[in-house]
Amino acid sequence: MLTQTLTLGSLLLVSSLPGLASARKSSQFSNPILPGFHPDPSCTFISEEETFYCASSSFNAFPGIPIHASKDLTTWRLVGNVLNRESQLPELAVSVGGTSGIWAPTLRLRDGTWYLVTTMVHDKKAADDPTRWRNIIFTTQDIWNESSWSDAVHFDFEGYDTSPFWDDDGTSYMVGSHAYKVEPGNHLAKVNLTTGELQSNWTNLWAGTGGLAPEGPHLYRKDGYYYLMIAEGGTGLGHMETIARSRNLYGPYKPNPANPILTNANTTEYFQTIGHADLFQDARGKWWSVALSTRGGPAFKVYPMGRETVLTNATWDKGAWPVIHNPVRGVMTGWPLPESGQNLPGDGPLVDQGDDNLRFPHGCPLPPHFLHWRLPIKENYIVSPPDHSNYLGLKPSKLNLTGVDGNSAPGGQTFVGRRQVDTLFMYRVVVDYTPKEAQEEAGVALFLTQNHHVRLGLTLLAASNTSTNLTPHFRFTTEPYSSAAPPFSVPVPASLQNTRLTMEIKAVNESHFSFAAGRADGEELTVLAHAPGEIVSWGFTGTLVGVYATSNGGNGTETAYVSNWTYQGEGQIRSNSSSAIHS
Ligand SMILES: *[C@@H]1O[C@H](CO)[C@@H](O)[C@H](O)[C@H]1NC(C)=O
Ligand SMILES: *[C@@H]1O[C@H](CO)[C@@H](O)[C@H](O)[C@H]1NC(C)=O
Ligand SMILES: *[C@@H]1O[C@H](CO)[C@@H](O)[C@H](O)[C@H]1NC(C)=O
Ligand SMILES: *[C@@H]1O[C@H](CO)[C@@H](O)[C@H](O)[C@H]1NC(C)=O
Ligand SMILES: *[C@@H]1O[C@H](CO)[C@@H](O)[C@H](O)[C@H]1NC(C)=O
Ligand SMILES: *[C@@H]1O[C@H](CO)[C@@H](O)[C@H](O)[C@H]1NC(C)=O
Ligand SMILES: *[C@@H]1O[C@H](CO)[C@@H](O)[C@H](O)[C@H]1NC(C)=O
Ligand SMILES: *[C@@H]1O[C@H](CO)[C@@H](O)[C@H](O)[C@H]1NC(C)=O
Ligand SMILES: *[C@@H]1O[C@H](CO)[C@@H](O)[C@H](O)[C@H]1NC(C)=O
Ligand SMILES: *[C@@H]1O[C@H](CO)[C@@H](O)[C@H](O)[C@H]1NC(C)=O
Ligand SMILES: *[C@@H]1O[C@H](CO)[C@@H](O)[C@H](O)[C@H]1NC(C)=O
Repeated sequence: MLTQTLTLGSLLLVSSLPGLASARKSSQFSNPILPGFHPDPSCTFISEEETFYCASSSFNAFPGIPIHASKDLTTWRLVGNVLNRESQLPELAVSVGGTSGIWAPTLRLRDGTWYLVTTMVHDKKAADDPTRWRNIIFTTQDIWNESSWSDAVHFDFEGYDTSPFWDDDGTSYMVGSHAYKVEPGNHLAKVNLTTGELQSNWTNLWAGTGGLAPEGPHLYRKDGYYYLMIAEGGTGLGHMETIARSRNLYGPYKPNPANPILTNANTTEYFQTIGHADLFQDARGKWWSVALSTRGGPAFKVYPMGRETVLTNATWDKGAWPVIHNPVRGVMTGWPLPESGQNLPGDGPLVDQGDDNLRFPHGCPLPPHFLHWRLPIKENYIVSPPDHSNYLGLKPSKLNLTGVDGNSAPGGQTFVGRRQVDTLFMYRVVVDYTPKEAQEEAGVALFLTQNHHVRLGLTLLAASNTSTNLTPHFRFTTEPYSSAAPPFSVPVPASLQNTRLTMEIKAVNESHFSFAAGRADGEELTVLAHAPGEIVSWGFTGTLVGVYATSNGGNGTETAYVSNWTYQGEGQIRSNSSSAIHS
C-alpha cells in the first residue's frame, strides 16, 4: 500500500508541474501496465498524437484484440476491440480448445493506415494441417472508431505470430514463426498488405539461439541494420527475448552475444515468463519495451490472471544492440515518464477500472470491456426487457460452460464476463432467477476456459433420491474436478427462495477464491464454497468473472435477470513478499 501511494503521489506531482519530469533523470512506475488477460503485447508510439497504442491477444474471447492507448505509459484507456463484428471472422465460432483463437497481434501505423496482423489458430488441429493457422490482416484509417476496422484479409503462411515490416523503399513484408512444412524459425516473405497476396516465397531468416519455439518476431530498421527480435524458450518459465541483426534484409543474421536481452528465467522473481517483447521510442527519443509476464513466482502454481503486459525501459545507442532493463519487477525505475499533456480521446474504461454497480439501461449496448467466449448467441442477451428494466436478461444456452467436452461449443454458450485485473477483488451481481425445469441453471463463474473454470449456480433438482419433487438448489462445479473443492449441490434455504439474490466471487487471498450468495435486500452473504487458484492457472489466457445461463442440455428456457454488476479491485500484489499488497 505504501509503495503504491508513493508512486501515485509522485505521478500526480509530475503531471501537475510541467517541466519537472523533463528535468528528472528517472521515474518510478508499476507493473503490470495492462493487468489481467492481456498477453503478447505489441505497442507503438505515434508522435503526432503523442500517444502510445498497444494491442494484445484475446484467444476465444469476443469482442477480441483490445487496443489500449496512453499518453504517459501509466494510464491506459480501452480504445476499442479490433474484432467486434462476427462477420469479420466467422470461423472464431468453430474454434476448438482453450488455447485456440487469436494469437499475438502486431499493431503498426503506416501512411495513415493502421495494420493489425494476427493469426487465428485452431490449436487442436494436427501440426501439419494447413488449416491450423489462419493468418490475417485487419486495417483501419481511424483507430478510435471501432466499427471502421476491416474484415479479415487472409494471407498464406503455415505458422503464427506474423508481423509486418516495411523496407526503406516502402516494400511490405511479413515475418512469422514456426512453419511446419519448412524448418522452424522466423520466416520472411513479401506480402501485399491490401490483398494478402504473397509476392515471394517464405525464407527462414533465423531460428534463434537454440531455445524452444523461436517465435514472436518483430523486424526493426535502425542505423543501417535490420534487427530481428524474437521470443524463445516457450511461453513458460524458460521464456526469453533474443535478437540478431544483418546489413541485408535476407541475412545472414548474426545473434547478439549478449542474448537473451530480456528474461526473468532462472530467477526467484515474482514476475516470471517474461518475453514476447516489442520496442518503441517516446517523444524524447527514450526507448521502452513491453513484454508478457506471469505473476506466479518461480513456484508458478497460482497465476489466474495469466500472461499480462509489463513495461521496462531500454537503451538503444547508434549502431549498438538494444539493451532492455531486467529484471522486470512490480515497481521499477525507468526513464522519466512522458507528461500526460492533453487528455486521451474516447470514453472506454481504463484498463484497471472497476465496475461500480452497472445497470443495463434500455437501448445501451454492453460495455466494450464485456466479453463472450467465442461469438455470442445475440438473442440470448436482452438489455432491459419490458418486465425487468435496467437488468440484462440471459436466455439459457443448451450447453453449459463446460460445453461439449471442455473444448468445443457448437451453437454457443450464454456467458458474459470481464477480466480479473486485480490480485484481490470482489465481483457481485444481483440475480433474479427462478428455474422452472430440472437442471436449468444460472449464476456466476470464474472463467479461464471451458476446461478450467469454477461456477456457482441456482438450479432446480429433485429434493432427494426418492422424490420427484423439484426444489431450487445452489450447485457448485469446478472444471476440472478438484479434490480441494469437490462439486456439491445444496437446497436453497427458504429465506433465499423467491427473492432476488446477490451472488459474489471474491479473491480472498493470493491463492483462493470464495463464492457467496445472500438476499439482494440483505447485508450478509453466506460463503458457500472456496476454490484454489490452481484450477484457473493454465494455458494461455487469463480469468474472466461473469454470469452464465444454461439448460444443461435439458428443456429449460427460463430467462435469468442480472443487474447491479460490480467489480472492485481490493489489492494488487506486485512482489513475492506477502506484505506487499498494494490497493
Ligand atoms: C465509424 O466507421 C463506420 C464504418 O466505417 C462509419 O460508418 C461511421 O460513420 C464512422 N463513425 C465516425 C464517428 O466516424
Ligand atoms: C496490392 O494490391 C492492390 C490491390 O490489387 C494494388 O492496387 C497494389 O498495387 C498492390 N501493391 C503491390 C505493392 O503490389
Ligand atoms: C516459389 O518457389 C517456387 C519453387 O522454387 C517457384 O516456382 C515460384 O516461382 C516461387 N514463387 C515466388 C512468388 O517467388
Ligand atoms: C535457465 O537454466 C537452464 C538450466 O540450467 C538453462 O538451460 C537455460 O538456458 C537457462 N535460461 C536462461 C534464460 O538463462
Ligand atoms: C523475491 O523477489 C526478489 C526480487 O524481487 C528476489 O531477490 C528474492 O530472491 C525473491 N525471494 C523469494 C523467496 O523468492
Ligand atoms: C533504465 O532507467 C534507469 C533509470 O533512469 C537507468 O538507470 C537504466 O540504465 C535504464 N536501463 C536501460 C537498459 O535503459
Ligand atoms: C455440463 O455439460 C457437460 C457436457 O455436456 C455435461 O457432461 C455435464 O453434466 C453438464 N453439467 C451439468 C451440471 O449438467
Ligand atoms: C442418493 O444417491 C447418491 C448417489 O447415487 C447416493 O450416494 C446416496 O447414498 C443416495 N442417498 C440416499 C438417501 O439414498
Ligand atoms: C487463503 O484463503 C483460503 C480460504 O479461506 C485459506 O484456506 C488459506 O489458508 C488462505 N491462505 C493464506 C496464505 O492465508
Ligand atoms: C442496485 O442498484 C440500484 C440503483 O442504483 C439500487 O437502488 C439498489 O439498491 C442496488 N441493489 C443492490 C443489491 O446493490
Ligand atoms: C424434457 O422434456 C421431455 C418431454 O416432456 C421429458 O421426457 C424429459 O424428461 C425432459 N427432460 C428433463 C431433463 O426434464
